[in-house]
Amino acid sequence: MRLDSQETDLTSIASAATGSAGFDVTALRAQFPSLASGIAHFDGPGGTQTPRRVADAIAATITSPLSNRGTGSVSEANADAAVTAFRQGYADLLGVPARGIVHGRSATQLTFDFSRAIARQWRPGDEVVVTRLDHDANVRPWVIAAENAGAVVRWIDLDPVTAELDSASVEAAVTERTRLVAVTAASNLLGTKPAVRAIADAAHAVGALVHVDGVHYTAHQFVDVPALGADLFVCSPYKFLGPHCGVLAADPDLLETLHPDKLLPSTNAVPERFELGTLPYETLAGATAAVDFLAEIAPGAVGATEAGSSRRERLRASLHAVDEHETRLRRLLEDGLAALGAEVVVHSRAADRTPTLLITLPGRKTWDAYQFLLGRDVLAPAGSFYAYEPFRRLGLDDEHALRLGLAPYNDDTDVARVLDGLAAFLAK
Ligand SMILES: Cc1ncc(COP(=O)(O)O)c(C=O)c1O
Repeated sequence: MRLDSQETDLTSIASAATGSAGFDVTALRAQFPSLASGIAHFDGPGGTQTPRRVADAIAATITSPLSNRGTGSVSEANADAAVTAFRQGYADLLGVPARGIVHGRSATQLTFDFSRAIARQWRPGDEVVVTRLDHDANVRPWVIAAENAGAVVRWIDLDPVTAELDSASVEAAVTERTRLVAVTAASNLLGTKPAVRAIADAAHAVGALVHVDGVHYTAHQFVDVPALGADLFVCSPYKFLGPHCGVLAADPDLLETLHPDKLLPSTNAVPERFELGTLPYETLAGATAAVDFLAEIAPGAVGATEAGSSRRERLRASLHAVDEHETRLRRLLEDGLAALGAEVVVHSRAADRTPTLLITLPGRKTWDAYQFLLGRDVLAPAGSFYAYEPFRRLGLDDEHALRLGLAPYNDDTDVARVLDGLAAFLAK
């Protein structure tokens, strides 16, 4: 059995390439059964819709002969193939060796597990650095691990006016005692992409590890984990068209130095020693199919090179095209929001940012706007999105904010619908 045997013709998406976007969004949308609901989805940062190819890969794997990993029977070989394909898929997506790819139930679970394994090497007086920009999944695991080890927590601050990390506080936070810096590659609340490489260089200069939350970033950018300076990097396929799980990427040599709690009979091999219990083979197959889907959105778009036939090169070209498409829509959205005047405050202002806009509506509740938009089948959630620290740092006088997040399948009509809906809400 070929686990990737579900034939979905994506060539039409790339071959109908139009304009600077490099792909035909109408053809792309046709691959997503759920979009037939008519909902305009701005909730991508919370989780994207799923293309048929991903669902087919999950179904094909779970309905084919399937046992525990092995080579003795076709069912064992199918399980093994699902794992091997998953590791290679995420190696291609993230730019690390396949032995450096660890599956987890979620990015949160992986970060908690790794924080415990890493903190075994910490001593009282050691220091750990976290930021006021991060989702709590890249804050609390490190704060708790530091407390348990007697380590000191230092904070890199967020400037609520610019939505950027405060560079002076980066310099102050990293010291000779720093053992680890945890930082996001992109904020799920504000879209801010901080200067991860510069922070990583400062951390490495004092011998500290760098743990990067790439959950929001991976949905919008071509990822190169070593180039980012990340020693450990987590992402979640359900944020980029895949199923609900988490992935950690690291140098296998680093993984060899870490020793998580594990069962006695389970393997001590890397990366399996970090994956407790039996793997969800069907989810792995779906996650791999998401990588293949991304790679085929626009493999011939700007950025493709002579070596464009490798999956990593196709991913580079496709994600470049997705970035162009989403950035164009983001500008349309920003122009439309600006035209609504002082009744809309856009908090996403960083120089480098993803197509995720956080807004509040002075004098009104964003929760009411969320409900109003829902009545028009426009899904733009109101909340703080587990971004506990940055949300508090913004000091808003609304207990929620409205998040407008763009995904590859959003189009001009979606943008027009959310702008019309907001205008109607404000006119009420
Ligand atoms: C930036 C960021 N980090 C971490 C997480 C947690 O990811 P998971 O649900 O895979 O634990 C999220 C989820 O929304 C996120 O947006």
